[in-house]
Amino acid sequence: MASFFRKQIAAKLGEALQHSEDAFIPALTAVPVLKKQNAADFKLSVSTLRMNGILPTSGDVQLQAENLATQLKQDSVLEHIFADRGAIHFKVNNKLLVQKLLEPFGKGEDEKFGLSSDLFDTLKRGTTLVEYSSPNIAKKFHAGHLRSTIIGNFIANLKQSLGNNVIRMNYLGDWGMQFGLLGAGFGQFGCQEKLKESPLQHLFEVYVQVNKEAEHNEGLKEAARDFFRQLEQHESQALSLWQQLREITVKEYQHVYKRLGVHFDIYSGESFHQNQAQEVVQQLQSRGLLTKSKKGTGVVDLSPDRDMGSLCTVVRSDGTTLYITRDLAAAVDRKEKYNFDEMIYVTDKSQSNHFQQLFQVLLAMGHSWADRCHHVPFGLVQGMKTRTGEVVFLEDVLDEARARMLQNMSQSKTTKEMNNPEDTAEKVGISALIVQDFKGPLQSDYKFDWDRMLQAQGDTGVFLQYTHARLCSLIQRNDGLEAATFESSVLIEQACIAILQHLLRYDEILYQSAQDLQPKHLVNFLLKLCHLVASAHRELPVKGSPQHVAQARFRLFSAACSVLANGMRILGITPVDKM
Ligand code: ARG
Repeated sequence: MASFFRKQIAAKLGEALQHSEDAFIPALTAVPVLKKQNAADFKLSVSTLRMNGILPTSGDVQLQAENLATQLKQDSVLEHIFADRGAIHFKVNNKLLVQKLLEPFGKGEDEKFGLSSDLFDTLKRGTTLVEYSSPNIAKKFHAGHLRSTIIGNFIANLKQSLGNNVIRMNYLGDWGMQFGLLGAGFGQFGCQEKLKESPLQHLFEVYVQVNKEAEHNEGLKEAARDFFRQLEQHESQALSLWQQLREITVKEYQHVYKRLGVHFDIYSGESFHQNQAQEVVQQLQSRGLLTKSKKGTGVVDLSPDRDMGSLCTVVRSDGTTLYITRDLAAAVDRKEKYNFDEMIYVTDKSQSNHFQQLFQVLLAMGHSWADRCHHVPFGLVQGMKTRTGEVVFLEDVLDEARARMLQNMSQSKTTKEMNNPEDTAEKVGISALIVQDFKGPLQSDYKFDWDRMLQAQGDTGVFLQYTHARLCSLIQRNDGLEAATFESSVLIEQACIAILQHLLRYDEILYQSAQDLQPKHLVNFLLKLCHLVASAHRELPVKGSPQHVAQARFRLFSAACSVLANGMRILGITPVDKM
């Protein structure tokens, strides 16, 4: 594996420069496969060594690279060492490349490939709490909630793959005036039967109706305020309706999340921290952090010189708490309950300021662990619509993805042979959604485009699934070729070497993703892998080749299939075997 070669190179460098080998491991990168034949497999830039204090910072970089390259002796592992553009390049022996990369496969542990790497030694492991999805009860599940759901799931999967203990949390918007309105209007507009039949739909309808009615009905507004007051005072009748609506919503969501391949360990929500939010206010007060503003609200002054230049409002003038007050209480409570080492919140970038303030207030309160709380912001999605109109529920998007995919698949012969084409269409449709969303930097806005994302060719989730299914079918048709050993010397074609050189990068890609929590590295890595597999497919037939060649190629394709499947799973995609 990549680690083997990195260690060899690091040892050589350590000896030449009289330095501990560990310092070189993270500085080495596997060179991306380009169209033209790769001259090298790994490289190390001299500027990194200068930055780490290993080489003197004076003098010409290229000259330093050349001097170092001549100092390093080539051997049977590292066949070629040369300097180019301020970096040292290393070409490993191809036969060894084949052996080291393909040996670990076929031993029943394929899913571990790339996950135990010396690169990960520097990553901190521990308990990571990831909060994502977090829709609001009775309100629309918008594109932002969909993004939060799939991005959060990816982060949780990635962290878990790299050995962290992960807690997946959904923080529902289950408190606030919308419940006052729902509570006050449910008697009038609600219907228990419809609630049982299609809960999310019905609650949303009632909510829309009540809001409309309340616009010109002062009595209803008053009733809503009244109902919410009853809730805050824990009056049993109000509370039991609230509880019923919440429970039914969670149950419904669990069902839809399952379709999406997402789950949560904990369904918490704003309601849980209603009382604790008041305690937080008291703590802020006793620490002298709370000031009354001119408007009568309670604020925390976050400006460095305390000149009221940057204020965070934590109490309304009527004494009630806000979104951020509940978040403060929730964070403290989570730290006490789960003692996380880091906490990650995933929401759209419009909430960046909210989270920066949240972390700052926590720090001001003396919670130094707030340093290990992060917000992962993402951009807006424009134009997420279905054929029947606006998306209101998560289910709408999933249904549309499935229907469109099913239609695209309907012409193919394999679809006709499938037991459950709907299920395949659903999985492929979801992968299309995910890849479209993950291809660029999360911070960027993008335009939702059904036609483009569902294309079978081009860089889409459909292409990933198609390649995976094709590899599965190759494996299935040739399962007699699976063998404990294989002849590594027959894999000499560039199409094969390119796949292996690409696999050398897998642990680096995971490492990079763990650093910046951006899924684009992994998505683009897998898309590239699929392109390389497509060329290899054309050029390296398995069927009809001599037994030992067929066996070795079989091993290559099964390795590619495993890495593709594992990578897809981390992204939150369920690979299909047939399509
Ligand atoms: N429910 C909120 C919304 O829909 C998102 C919650 C984000 N998480 C948090 N801890 N504030 O905008």
